[in-house]
Amino acid sequence: MIGKAVEKALNTQLNAELYSSYLYLSMSSWFSFQNLDGFANWMRVQAQEELVHAMKFYDYLIQRNGRVLLLAVDAPPTEWDSPDAVFEHTYQHEQKVTGLINELVDLSISEKDHATHMVLQWFVDEQVEEESSAAEILGKIRMLKESKSGIYILDRELNQRVFTPPPAQQPVE
Ligand code: FEO
Repeated sequence: MIGKAVEKALNTQLNAELYSSYLYLSMSSWFSFQNLDGFANWMRVQAQEELVHAMKFYDYLIQRNGRVLLLAVDAPPTEWDSPDAVFEHTYQHEQKVTGLINELVDLSISEKDHATHMVLQWFVDEQVEEESSAAEILGKIRMLKESKSGIYILDRELNQRVFTPPPAQQPVE
C-alpha cells in the first residue's frame, strides 16, 4: 500500500505528464499550420512519449494499490511567434518538469518510500535526455537564424523521428 502523501504527489505528476502531452500536441498542430510537417512530427512523437510517462505513473499507482484520481488538464497555449519560441518554451517546460521530478524524489526519501524512489530513477534519467534534446534543437534553430533553407533541412531531419511504443507491460497481479 502506498502512503497518502506519495499517492497524492504521483497523481499530481500524472496530471503534469498529461498536460505535457497536451502542450506538445498543441505545438504540433501549430507547426502543421505553418506547413512545417517535420517539426509537427517531432512534437507529435513527443506528445505520445508524454502519454507513456503518464501511463507509467498510472500503472505504478495501481500496482501499489493506490488510487488513480484523474484531475482536470489545463488548456495549453495555442500560439507562438516562431519555431525558436516553441523550442524555447519546450526547453523551459522540460526544466520545470525536471524540478517536479526532483521534488518527487525528495518526497520519496522523506517518506522512506524506497519502491517509489527506484521507479523515479527512470524519470531522473529521462529528464536529462528530454532537456538535452530540446536544447539541441533550440541551438540548431538559433544557429540557422532566419535561413529559410536551413529551417527546411531541419524540418526534414525532424521528420525522421519515430515513436517507439514501450514493451507490453505484464498484467498487474
Ligand atoms: Fe514527461 Fe517531457 O517529461
